[in-house]
Amino acid sequence: MSYQLPPLPYAQNALEPYITSKLMSFHYGKHHQGYVDKYNELVTGTPMADQPLEKVIKDTFEKLDQKKLFNNAAQIFNHNFFWHSMKPKGGGEPPAKLKSAIQHTWGNLIAFKTEFSTKAKDLFGSGWVWLVKEGDKLEILQTKDAETPITGNSQKPLLTLDVWEHAYYLDYQNKRPDFITAYLDHLVNWDFAEKNL
Ligand code: FE2
Repeated sequence: MSYQLPPLPYAQNALEPYITSKLMSFHYGKHHQGYVDKYNELVTGTPMADQPLEKVIKDTFEKLDQKKLFNNAAQIFNHNFFWHSMKPKGGGEPPAKLKSAIQHTWGNLIAFKTEFSTKAKDLFGSGWVWLVKEGDKLEILQTKDAETPITGNSQKPLLTLDVWEHAYYLDYQNKRPDFITAYLDHLVNWDFAEKNL
């Protein structure tokens, strides 16, 4: 059975005005769907066709002859995770347990947001910014292109932000920093992050 694009956890226009329905229709309906179509094309008829997506990602990581399959599989996972990292009326204060973990590492939420947003702005080219848990520590990571923290076994993702140009260009053009601010102040789904903690 081929892999099916999971439904968005909210309506396509639910994140307006910060992400318009038009941008979402391209990002989810064309880009994310495109990774799913390519993945199915590459995996069909191979022994990996029946494997769970996360296993395919781990098994193809850093294998030169499997790079295309890795890229498409990882981009499916990353986008699935990204949609859940946001919600309508997101932002605000994290719930207690996550807030205390953030304070433990960064001192306060503002310092966390500053580091997250600097790493998102500074990521050159295409990639992802993640809040991950490693052992009992929280960390902010950048990954390039399709790379994802789940290829190692030590980092557990809590949240992610897509900073590929296709994630914001229609609504924000070259203003990536404005997209990052909208994500942190109005979209981020702290409940999802805490659930992953
Ligand atoms: Fe994307």
